Amino acid sequence: MKKKIVLFTVIAIVAALSLSVLLAGCTTVDMSKAGPDEIKEYGKLVVATSPDFPPFENLEDGEIVGWDIDVANELAKMLGVELEIKSMAFDAVLASVATGKAHIGMAGISYSAKRDETMDFSVNVYDSQQVIIVRADNNEINGPMDLEGKTVAVQAGTIGNWLAEMDEDYAYTTNENNEKVARLGTPSSVSALDSGLTAIQRVKTDHADAVILDKLTAQEIVVSLNAQGGDQLKILETSVYGDAYAFAIGEGNVKLKEWIDAAYQELVDNGTIARLNEKWNIE
Ligand code: ARG
Repeated sequence: MKKKIVLFTVIAIVAALSLSVLLAGCTTVDMSKAGPDEIKEYGKLVVATSPDFPPFENLEDGEIVGWDIDVANELAKMLGVELEIKSMAFDAVLASVATGKAHIGMAGISYSAKRDETMDFSVNVYDSQQVIIVRADNNEINGPMDLEGKTVAVQAGTIGNWLAEMDEDYAYTTNENNEKVARLGTPSSVSALDSGLTAIQRVKTDHADAVILDKLTAQEIVVSLNAQGGDQLKILETSVYGDAYAFAIGEGNVKLKEWIDAAYQELVDNGTIARLNEKWNIE
């Protein structure tokens, strides 16, 4: 009799424990609606990034560093909470913000009306351009229209990716006669890769004709690859597209947007942003 009771008790405890483990695994907090008060209550600010995009975020000796990371630290400090950086591929950053797996996406993310349908954005924090990178000895591609029939490599899920694929939401504009015109010539093929660096290496090794990438990151990568010898790469003067970076948050999260916009303004006013721009060579 006694033995039986002990056995039942053990079984009950094991069952209860496994159930709680199971539940803990299933319960994921939806962060897409968390305003500043909820984040303070949660105790940490969760930021998603893709550290392959210098000077905004990059891996240095295994550590994630960059302008976005420094700003994220400032925001966490202002909230009085810890910062948790979640590292992932760029397209996963956007998905994480949209599905509430992070409070903010800080990854040199360009604002776009298309993205704005599934998430919200802070004020613009940086004006950028999408530039074309080719081999230095390439005399055929001198501007966006020359990409017609060429092979283009890009980072998956980026504006460069959508431009190269002639996506309706990015690759067209209207001219002075209100006619729809393409911003670039239609490439013959597009390879969507894990990073801008991987894409540029495809061009360097002659496996692709061109890359479309954000100007500052393109400059950093091209300078460092060219420094390895040969000056094999160049960036074209004429860009394909002008864009602006912002921090991405959950769709309709007005409280967090208001807080971030005000916090960012404070960082501008107290000189922090100017200091970080200088630190990371951002103009
Ligand atoms: N600005 C571009 C975009 O929003 C590229 C961003 C890539 N960022 C990164 N951390 N890899 O699509």
